[in-house]
Amino acid sequence: MIKRSLITLSLITGCFFAPSSQVVAQNSQTQESRMNATVDSILAKMTIDEKIGQLNLLNPGGGVATGAVVSDNVQQKIKDGEVGGLFGVAGPDKIKIAQDYAVNDTRLGIPLLIGSDVIHGYKTTFPIPLGTSASWDLEMIKKTAQIAALEATADGINWNFSPMVDISRDPRWGRVAEGAGEDPYLGSQIAKAMVEGYQGDDLTKENTMIATVKHFALYGASESGRDYNTTDMSRIKMFNEYLPPYKAAIDAGVGSVMSSFNDVDGVPATGNKWLLTTLLRDKWGFDGFVTSDYTSVNEMIAHGLGDLQAVSALALKAGLDMDMVGEGFLTTLKKSLEEGKVTEQEITTAARRILEAKYKLGLFEDPYKYLDENRTKKDILKKSSREFAREVAAHSFVLLKKDAGVLPLKKDAKIALIGPLANNKNNMLGTWAPTGDPQLSIPVLEGIKNVAPKAKINYAQGANITNDEEFAEKINVFGPRAEISNVSPEKMLEKALKAAKKSDVIIAVVGEASEMSGESASRTNLLIPESQKKLIRELAKTDKPMAIVLMSGRPLNISEEAALPVDILQVWHPGVEAGNAIADVIFGDYNPSGKITASWPRNVGQVPVYYRMKNTGRPQPSDDFTKFKSQYLDVSNSPLYPFGFGLSYTDFEYKNITASADKLPMDGTITLSATVTNTGDFDGEEVVQLYIHDKVRSITPPLKELKGFKKIMLKKGESKTVSFEISAEDLKFYNSNLDFVTEPGEFEYVIAGSSDKEFKNSFELVK
Ligand code: BGC
Repeated sequence: MIKRSLITLSLITGCFFAPSSQVVAQNSQTQESRMNATVDSILAKMTIDEKIGQLNLLNPGGGVATGAVVSDNVQQKIKDGEVGGLFGVAGPDKIKIAQDYAVNDTRLGIPLLIGSDVIHGYKTTFPIPLGTSASWDLEMIKKTAQIAALEATADGINWNFSPMVDISRDPRWGRVAEGAGEDPYLGSQIAKAMVEGYQGDDLTKENTMIATVKHFALYGASESGRDYNTTDMSRIKMFNEYLPPYKAAIDAGVGSVMSSFNDVDGVPATGNKWLLTTLLRDKWGFDGFVTSDYTSVNEMIAHGLGDLQAVSALALKAGLDMDMVGEGFLTTLKKSLEEGKVTEQEITTAARRILEAKYKLGLFEDPYKYLDENRTKKDILKKSSREFAREVAAHSFVLLKKDAGVLPLKKDAKIALIGPLANNKNNMLGTWAPTGDPQLSIPVLEGIKNVAPKAKINYAQGANITNDEEFAEKINVFGPRAEISNVSPEKMLEKALKAAKKSDVIIAVVGEASEMSGESASRTNLLIPESQKKLIRELAKTDKPMAIVLMSGRPLNISEEAALPVDILQVWHPGVEAGNAIADVIFGDYNPSGKITASWPRNVGQVPVYYRMKNTGRPQPSDDFTKFKSQYLDVSNSPLYPFGFGLSYTDFEYKNITASADKLPMDGTITLSATVTNTGDFDGEEVVQLYIHDKVRSITPPLKELKGFKKIMLKKGESKTVSFEISAEDLKFYNSNLDFVTEPGEFEYVIAGSSDKEFKNSFELVK
């Protein structure tokens, strides 16, 4: 028998979120006032200690702890009304115990929020987000979030710490894996799709959950790509390049925001009032709650902002509502109140926001609504979800090179399948998949057998992921990811070469282990580990046609491998259906259509290298060296692979790139279009991209800005006209006063399959 909180049953008369329609729009005010009435009435009964308790978020341990501390004595703290939410706990049975303490054993019976990091799928693990973003398929991305929400809520979770929308142009930073790459426009579209996927249009439904946009803000710009490091950037850069995806999530109605570890303009985000109140609430109108990151309140002590009491007061006053794990709020806010360092109003406001979130989820109506064992059995790892994960993975792969013409393979080919990632379950899910189970994943060898049972496969591991024991230990923190074999590297190589000799083609599956990217996994060297580079070199000497299937959580420096006459298929960490999806693509059942969303450098010294660069006063006229121009002595300025780049088994030609008019009035629109033709031998999908260049601006403009994209299917020989409607609104930017403006003038544009194509046409924006 479900026991409901007394306070709630008497108060609840309706839900806050209902399906969006005109009727709902008319009713939303009533619903908001119902929520206010409920929350007001609870707050009126609460003591100051109970209010502070709501601001405390704990991790009882057992899941993935990403800080040094795990909460203790959690049971007693819940019973004492000292906890507003938990994370790192899953399963209706366990969560019910915790929810019982909150509902039955505390004075007011306020239910708990139950959070989790569901970053790229729950049990049905999708590719890492950087991979999914390479699909440029917003509907698909939204559906990954819907399935993640379906599964997580079936396991008792009602609050998700995703999407991570940090723009990053630094592949040294391991957390590039978790985001959508380097571009604010694409990043914003993906942020919106993810929020809509998690939250749906009705948060009271059993299969939706509150999303959290993170890490607010600028976390992806940490200096030298070192995790948790300082950031420093101008407001103009922030507003034009780094803030848009967070804002897009807010505009999409995200329920919560997580503050980041880094400082912004000298003040850590967690205690930054300009960020958490002036910008987030006053300017952007955010009305949900803000949580800290893992112990980021306490970490302000190390940042040099004072002792625990001081930093906790700073955070509350800045606009932070919930304190993750550190218990600074719990242990110091009352004292600060007594000493006049914070006000009761500030505590009440934060508590109100937590209670509102619980109301929006319908937890007051039924604290146990996400605890349904039948759903756990029915909704997690559904056959259709796994099938979808396979489809998403195939769409995330990027064909970087097709010089060998090895791909697609014939299904009866004689294949040397070689590499430490070729028959490996432990590294298919990628970083930040704490709720997934690596053992459920399909390795490449198994996938190939499933898709091409007639293929003759000669498998050999060929090399260790790394031969460096110390390095291996660092990446094995969440389980064995880089095991070093008892067989010597020489013996392994010998076997691999033998397998190659017996075969017609080589498929080499190499790259990074899962935990070589992700949190606290920064690298200064973006190479494939030397053990595997050596394997590739030796395999290349056999003169057998070779395709490299490359796994990684970041753009790598593959200049050496790219100089070989090989095919290269980038597959990220593809998730639970890895092997099946890879087999689908290498045998041509799906023609790769992914496009990279972060530029790949020629070497680490080029970092940051990104397409949305500004011009210098001394631009390099061509890739040739010219003294006193902006360039390097040793490599050209261009990346190895630019943003938006990705090949297909077929080829696409772009023609008739035109505008519907020469002039765009401030209050009008213009249509830019191109005819795209599939000129090759396979049917295929293409991501058609629109870039513009604002030629003259009051602030230095980027050389190119993505302003639209469409993914289309073209049968071989088929042509389609793809159009983008542009208005002055689409050409806005933040000027020196941080006003969002459009300035008249000439705009160049190009419609292309990658960001490195030259402008040939322009239109004029007129007053
Ligand atoms: C990460 C967050 C994550 C949190 C809770 C932190 O270390 O930065 O992204 O949501 O841990 O697991």
